[in-house]
Amino acid sequence: MKNLLTAEQIFGIEQKCFSEPWSMEMITAQLNSKNSATLIKTINGVPAGYATGLKLEGEGELYRIAVLPEHRGKGFAKELLTRFLEKCGSDVFLEVRSENKAAIALYKSAGFEQAGLRKNYYGDDDALIFRRNKCTH
Ligand SMILES: CC(C)(COP(=O)(O)OP(=O)(O)OC[C@H]1O[C@@H](n2cnc3c(N)ncnc32)[C@H](O)[C@@H]1OP(=O)(O)O)[C@@H](O)C(=O)NCCC(=O)NCCS
Repeated sequence: MKNLLTAEQIFGIEQKCFSEPWSMEMITAQLNSKNSATLIKTINGVPAGYATGLKLEGEGELYRIAVLPEHRGKGFAKELLTRFLEKCGSDVFLEVRSENKAAIALYKSAGFEQAGLRKNYYGDDDALIFRRNKCTH
């Protein structure tokens, strides 16, 4: 039941934040997967943003981070990312569209550095691979 409620909240955020939002099936699979790590930011009990990824031994991967448009620019993504990094406690990787300037600035401000590039990964855009090494922070 708790997961269903969380999935619905995330679905609402996905719909408002991405041109290709995750489906309920994808969200549910992510929430139920063994090594998933998911955080929701709420304001007065109402969801404002979320982050989700994978937490493995010694390594993590951030899949999604999003804040509702009306709550952007208030430091919520930075807060979610910090909490995600604390939860993983390890080296963290992520992929981002090369044109997503806001997300890239967010990741750099949290200490991520570019570790690679995948040409045309998204079809219409390249993917940049970022890494944050725990040992250097
Ligand atoms: C990217 C996103 C999560 C940022 O959320 P946010 O809550 O507005 O970000 P914050 O207020 O925490 O900003 C933290 C830092 O990110 C950077 N940043 C955030 N938005 C920015 C923008 N529009 N332009 C440039 N830098 C930006 C800044 O470095 C900022 O630090 P500063 O305020 O000290 O300068 C939000 O724009 C979003 O949900 N976008 C759509 C979903 C998405 O693309 N997610 C990433 C790929 S999964």
